[in-house]
Amino acid sequence: MKIRVFDLPSEAGLYAASLIERVVETTQRPVFGLATGSTTLPLYDALVNLDHCGLNLSSAVTINLDEYIGLGADHEQSYHYFMNQHLFSRLRVRPKEMYIPSGDGVNPQAECQRYDAVIREHPIDLQVLGIGTNGHIGFNEPDDLLLLNTHIVNLSANTIQSNARFFQSPDEVPRQALTMGVQAILQAKQIVLMAFGEEKADIIAKMVDGEVRTEIPASVLQLHRDVTLVLDKASAAKLTVESLLR
Ligand code: GLP
Repeated sequence: MKIRVFDLPSEAGLYAASLIERVVETTQRPVFGLATGSTTLPLYDALVNLDHCGLNLSSAVTINLDEYIGLGADHEQSYHYFMNQHLFSRLRVRPKEMYIPSGDGVNPQAECQRYDAVIREHPIDLQVLGIGTNGHIGFNEPDDLLLLNTHIVNLSANTIQSNARFFQSPDEVPRQALTMGVQAILQAKQIVLMAFGEEKADIIAKMVDGEVRTEIPASVLQLHRDVTLVLDKASAAKLTVESLLR
């Protein structure tokens, strides 16, 4: 696992954007797995800046990790809305295809199958990830087992509480979501996980230096051969010197 620690999230975002640029320049039809959450904002700001400086994402395909069940694309807290607001609507030219699971369809189970077919058709070159304070990636929550395919998940109390900051009250946070499974994440050629802030320091240390356990979903990334952690000093504070030098 490659670990890069920056003073500022904005510097980290620029670095992560440069990893995306490299894939755009070396791949005919680049496919990016994208994430939502406040951690990804510096990356999307940097990508928008690069787009204004000439980076062309028009040949790219993007596939988002997850979506809340029950929120339509026009709901301000839906991940559809987030992606439009923070990335897609700000680009000069949008990516060729943009996929986000639909959270307000009548048949979420069928949507999971449709989404897996999308992922099979578009193998992911670079997967961007954030991490929950409980170690979730996408919405793959800590559990006795991790599911491979896209599935419906009951959000944990920890996640509902963490994400309540984006809603008027915790009661408004959806209780379920649709998420890509760990197979699609681990099949990505390259993974870039970003984390900022001291509230992520414990979980980053556990995912890097601890055992691979389903209670820490992000620890499965130890099994992948091309993972880069893009951190700030606060989130890297509890890593061992050995991990940082690895
Ligand atoms: C959400 C998303 C995750 C994201 C995580 C961290 O629950 N489903 O993909 O990584 O929260 O969010 P933040 O970056 O706001 O800390």
